[in-house]
This record gives sequence, C-alpha cells and structure tokens, in this order.
Amino acid sequence: MGITDDFRVSGLKFPDGFVFGAATAAYQIEGAATEDGRGPSIWDTFSHVPGNVENGDTGDVAIDFYHRVDEDLDLVKSLGLSAYRLSIAWPRILPAGTGEINEAGLAFYEKVVDGLIARGIEPIVTLYHWDLPQPLEDRGGWTTRETSYAFAEYARVVGRRLGDRVAVWTTLNEPWCSAYLGYASGNHAPGRRSEIGALQAVHHLNLAHGLALIELRKVVKRPDAKFSVTNNLAMTYAADPANPEDVDAKRQLDALQNRAFTDPQLRGFYPHDLLMDTKHITDWSFVQDGDLELINQPIDIVGINYYCTGTVRRGPEHPTEGTVHPGAACVESVEQPGPYTEMGWNVAPQGLYDLLVATHEAYPEFEIMVTENGAAYRDELVEEDGVKRVHDPERVDYLQRHLVSAHRAIEAGVPLTGYFAWSLMDNFEWAFGYSKRFGIVYVDYATQERTKKDSALWYEKLAETGVIPEA
Ligand code: FCB
Repeated sequence: MGITDDFRVSGLKFPDGFVFGAATAAYQIEGAATEDGRGPSIWDTFSHVPGNVENGDTGDVAIDFYHRVDEDLDLVKSLGLSAYRLSIAWPRILPAGTGEINEAGLAFYEKVVDGLIARGIEPIVTLYHWDLPQPLEDRGGWTTRETSYAFAEYARVVGRRLGDRVAVWTTLNEPWCSAYLGYASGNHAPGRRSEIGALQAVHHLNLAHGLALIELRKVVKRPDAKFSVTNNLAMTYAADPANPEDVDAKRQLDALQNRAFTDPQLRGFYPHDLLMDTKHITDWSFVQDGDLELINQPIDIVGINYYCTGTVRRGPEHPTEGTVHPGAACVESVEQPGPYTEMGWNVAPQGLYDLLVATHEAYPEFEIMVTENGAAYRDELVEEDGVKRVHDPERVDYLQRHLVSAHRAIEAGVPLTGYFAWSLMDNFEWAFGYSKRFGIVYVDYATQERTKKDSALWYEKLAETGVIPEA
C-alpha cells in the first residue's frame, strides 16, 4: 500500500482496443441551471443553503459546458480519447421528475451525443449522477419506491431518444454516495440524516437500477450497446489481518459499502450479514416480494470508481446517527499511510489492483471498466514564453501508477476493457465547490478558459500509443 517505486514504470502496452476516456457529470460542469426549461435538482437546493458547500459555491454556472459543447468536445478529440463518459441531468428531461417531457433537454443531449459521434468518440452515458429532481425529493426522494419507478420512466424517455447512438448505458453513478452521504451523514444533497432513510435509499437506488434496465432494453436500438452500473467499490483492509475482530470489522464495512449494491445488482440477493448488522435499525420490510428479481437484470460491464483505500479495526461502540455508515457502531477507521492528494485521500495504486482482482473473483462473468480514477492537487496556471501551462507532476505520477496497476490487473486475468480519467476538466467538486481541482484540463473560473495540464499531455500520449509514457 501507499507509493512504492514499483509502480513507476513506463513502456507497458495496453491491449488493442482498450478504451482510454475521460469522465464528467452534468451538475459539475453544465451550469445553465435554469435555462431551457431545466427544473431544480436536489443539488441546486442543497448548494444554495449557506454552509453546505465550501465557499458558498453552486453549480449555477459551473464551467458552462452547456454553452461550450463544441469547444469542449474538440478538446476531448484533441486528446485522442476514444470515449467520453457524461451524465444526463434528469431535471432537464423531466423537470418535475415524472410526466411532462422537456424537449429542449433531450435536444441538448442529442447535440452532445451527436457531437461525440461526429468526432469519432463513443458516448458513455450515465443516467443518474446525483441530480434528483427536487419535486421527487419533496415526495420522499430515494426513501420511497415512487422514485425508483420515476427513474424507470426517465430512463425510457432518454433511451427512446438516444438509444440508437449511445455505446454504453450506465444506470447509476456511485449509489453509495447517493444513499449514505445524501441520507445518513447529510454531507451531500439532500442533506438528510436518517439511518433507516439511508438503507431505504440503498434499496430504492438498487430497484431504480433494475427497473431502468428493463425499460432501456425495450427501447435501445443500437445492436452493440452495452449496459452497466458504476459503483465506488471500496478497497478496505483489516488493520491486523490476523485479528478476527478486525477482519470482522472489514467484513461489516464491505457489506455496507460494496455488497449492499453488488449482490442485489449482480446476484439478486441482499447479503445476510448486512441484514443482521442493521436489524436494530430496520427489518428491511421495504424490500417487497419480487424486488430482487427486478434488480438483478443482466448487465455487461461493471464500472468501478477508485480513488484510495481504507483500513479498519474493531473499536469501542460509538453513536452512528449522523455518520456515514448506518449500524457500523464498532468499526473504527485507521489513518492511511501517505502521500495524500488535496482531498486528503491516500495515493494507493496497489489498492486498485487488489480491488479489480477481488471484484473479478467475486463476479467473474463481467467485463470491468474503471469509470473514474484521478486526483485533486493545487494547480497553478503559469505563462512561459507566451504559452499557458499547468505543471502537475503529482497528477501525472498518480495517473501513471494507477494505470500500471490497471495493466497488472489485466495481466493477472481481469477482463478490464477501459479506463476513464476523472476528470476531463476542473469542475464543481460537490461539497468542496470549486476548491478542489480534479481535471487533466485546467479551467480558469473567471474566464472559463481551458488549458491542458501536463497530465493531459501525458494522457494524450498514452491514448495515442496505448503505451504508458514516462512520467
Ligand atoms: C466521485 C464522483 C465524482 C467526483 C469524484 C472526485 O465520487 O463520482 O463526481 O466528484 O468522486
């Protein structure tokens, strides 16, 4: 774990056809929050409440992607990427969450998708990257089943319009964040703090995933389209692997973080230990007969977002109300060895390898893609001989080590077919606002000018040759 020189390798070649892409999400980049009939989402509401987001930042303007589609897609093209992962804003399509369709919203994403295809870039679409229409939250949000069915309706509308063009359909991005940060700790929109609410959200997000897949499959027309879901699966280690108590703490967290999503989605059941560990909170009677069959729809690709690792041990009991993980009263996190990114997250390329191998072992029949990986650092725009540059050696180093790790996973037999850098451009980093820069392209927020960082130039070389360049 942590940085070892072992991962500073160049010259490794990825298999032909391996997808190098970059990812973004609607609320983080689009802006135009009230334009062309877009309704409010929970992130509009949440970010406008003072104290919720650093510096009072909101996504009202973001990086103005809504008005800069051509320029930004040219950027993707100039990086030589073969795929671009975007998300669609539900409140642009169905401003009230259900019912009336906003044609301007569909037209906007049609323009983006067509723009990608015209440039030879595959559109990889995520339907839900956290921007729930506010009217649905007002009726209970993800704590209610109604929201799952509303999501299926939304998926059908988008699938009908773009189903002949989109290469990969991803239902949800990181339902862990939506459920636990949204409804347990309240760090993310809608900012609720309810342990049972968060567990209901887990289930209704899973149900939404399954119902949406059923609808998508009815309307998607592109014969080679693939279906997927992206989870931020956690790579957690036991502090002392020889201590059964620590191993059990790891098991408990693994159930809440990972298996609460992957087991129903990919296997059609909730892990027994998850139900036992949370039985003082709920009997899970919100899981109705037939739900697990609905959730467990066939998919092609398991998407994984990976940033850092965790280590846990068995600790003394502490209150869990208002914390991230419901019912994890005796699980204690252990500080990770550095170095750390600007987020305070540890740099641990070995963790990506371990996670990919573990996921493949548990769910061997699926193709896997790393749908997000990247790092925030304090970047500075400089001018050298009249040329604007951003020297970000730490990010280049981070990307190199993680791509070497991904390469090793392929050599170990993991069917990994793609890697998406998070993110194409600096953007609205949720509760951290614009204070954290994850882009490989720098954005000057005052002028909206884009400048490729050194990491973008490095990644461009990789995309062009398929060979890991020197850092
Ligand atoms: C992930 C999110 C993404 C971005 C990165 C840093 O959890 O999916 O939108 O914020 O973290």
